[in-house]
Amino acid sequence: MDIDILTLFPSFFEGPFSTTMVGRALSKGLATVNVSDIRDYAEDKHKSVDDAPYGGGPGMVLKPGPLVRAIQSVRRDDSYVIYLSPQGKTLNSTICEELSQNHKHIVLICGHYEGIDERVVDLEVDAEISIGDYVMTHGGPAAVVLVDSVLRFVPGVLGHDNSAYEDSFHIDSIFDTPKYTRPKTYQGMDVPEVLLNGHHEKIRMWGEEQVLKKLKKNRPDLIRE
Ligand SMILES: C[S@@+](CC[C@H](N)C(=O)[O-])C[C@H]1O[C@@H](n2cnc3c(N)ncnc32)[C@H](O)[C@@H]1O
Repeated sequence: MDIDILTLFPSFFEGPFSTTMVGRALSKGLATVNVSDIRDYAEDKHKSVDDAPYGGGPGMVLKPGPLVRAIQSVRRDDSYVIYLSPQGKTLNSTICEELSQNHKHIVLICGHYEGIDERVVDLEVDAEISIGDYVMTHGGPAAVVLVDSVLRFVPGVLGHDNSAYEDSFHIDSIFDTPKYTRPKTYQGMDVPEVLLNGHHEKIRMWGEEQVLKKLKKNRPDLIRE
């Protein structure tokens, strides 16, 4: 899978993609991430990429010209262009899996200021995706979240290819079960006895109870009757 990120802050991505499993996947050639500076596609001598909004209001808007040229410079026949926007569909595990399976080339547009000229969305964008109901100052963090969560579904990226399908939101019980590792006792707290006896059915039933407890506490909206 190839990913192109269009941004005003290319250096923002130096850290996130040079370490972790994503960094390892990129260095192994399992995927590519290419970052382009939208400002390189400005045509005036000041390299301006933004202007005041028509109709008034605070802040600036990314102009269509430089952004469309940036998109077209990376576009291929098989590109799927995503604008990262708080007004998009909320990213979830199903979208991540579909993106990893259905698209060989993804272009991510990171907005800034008050966002991008709407005509870019109409002309060039296949999907608008949000990472949650809150607003950040630019699309960079959203691009990092999307790249990391989509690449987990690319074969070879995780140590075990099944892992992505056994994690929360991809298993019947919605959440993954609580995990414990050595030491057996930590600050006076023992690992649950059931995990030590190797009885798979009892471990499964214990896991279901724990998941339900966590759902009730943190995400009651996800409990199906
Ligand atoms: C300050 S925001 C623009 C907010 C816009 N005026 C609004 O109220 O919907 C600047 C940029 O950050 C990115 N952004 C902010 N929050 C986001 C979110 N929750 N998900 C995805 N991208 C986001 C988008 O690329 C957006 O163009």
